[in-house]
Amino acid sequence: MNEKKTMLSGIQPSGDLHLGNYLGPLRHWPEMIESYDCFFFMADMHTITVRQDPAQLRKRTLTQIAQYIACGLDPEKCTIFVQSHVPAHAQLGWVLDCYTMFGELSRMTQFKDKSAKHAENINAGLFTYPVLMAADILIYQPDYVPVGEDQRQHVEICRDIAERFNGIYGDVFRVPEPYIAKVGARIKSLNAPDAKMSKSMPEGCVFLMEKPEDIMRKFKRAVTDSDTERCVRYAPEEKPGVSNLVQIYAAATGKSFEEIEAEFDGQGYGKFKPAVGEAVVETLRPIREKTERLLADKAYLEGVYRAGAEKAGYAAEKTLRKVYKKIGFLPR
Ligand code: TRP
Repeated sequence: MNEKKTMLSGIQPSGDLHLGNYLGPLRHWPEMIESYDCFFFMADMHTITVRQDPAQLRKRTLTQIAQYIACGLDPEKCTIFVQSHVPAHAQLGWVLDCYTMFGELSRMTQFKDKSAKHAENINAGLFTYPVLMAADILIYQPDYVPVGEDQRQHVEICRDIAERFNGIYGDVFRVPEPYIAKVGARIKSLNAPDAKMSKSMPEGCVFLMEKPEDIMRKFKRAVTDSDTERCVRYAPEEKPGVSNLVQIYAAATGKSFEEIEAEFDGQGYGKFKPAVGEAVVETLRPIREKTERLLADKAYLEGVYRAGAEKAGYAAEKTLRKVYKKIGFLPR
């Protein structure tokens, strides 16, 4: 008997997870897998909507699996797999294409943004991206899909597609709820603290796999504010740069803002910045080392994603068979 609710999330294999990802949602996932039956997959099929280098994509997919395990996703307690290893996603994707309207896809903000950004490659996959995502979700009948703000519209359209389909054929799909995950800290770029930390601005971004000396260099160069008081204080409006560092230090050490302000009272920023750097280095060290160990053991990683695909495939096939039957495909 399994009474746990099901949760599912896809992650594009960009392979360079950073501190913002980790101190934000990722850090809470290990708690989540205790309370929910979780599926995590590397959304490689979504990734090719933008042109990729094949060797890089392969490497990043594997690295990302290793990183998630290193961050505490125990593959014995959740299902980790690669999207393209479970063909039922694409099969259901095609079916759902036929229940999704051209008009509703043209209104998706991510499609508009991405086609503006990749004007030379506005392919059909970019357009039907939300339908494949709906298939990813609906095929596992999850109760919840954890989403950040940028993916909310995709979960909405998934719900619309599911309701439309259920309206015609009866209750085939569970209509999932968006799950507003504990986000933890919202980390900003180290050199432009008005923007989110993002790999597109690498100088202000600390990657999970980065070497300690590079991390320290980035923190020493972090932008602090041009205010005159020069004291360590959490005040995001007046002092966005320092406040971001306070938040990172708090998340890395578990100390409260008050404790941090007291710790650096009267010391200016010169001591504070390297202290934050060191705290981050120590937080990331075990993750980096574990990722490296895992990447050195390809057979283990293969075992993880094969077992994941097996388990996911079983659940996915079951939904696909039901859908094929409902729409009138002749059983083979
Ligand atoms: N579109 C998601 C992103 O870019 C990735 C994704 C693909 C996903 N399929 C999914 C997320 C299914 C949740 C559920 O972040």
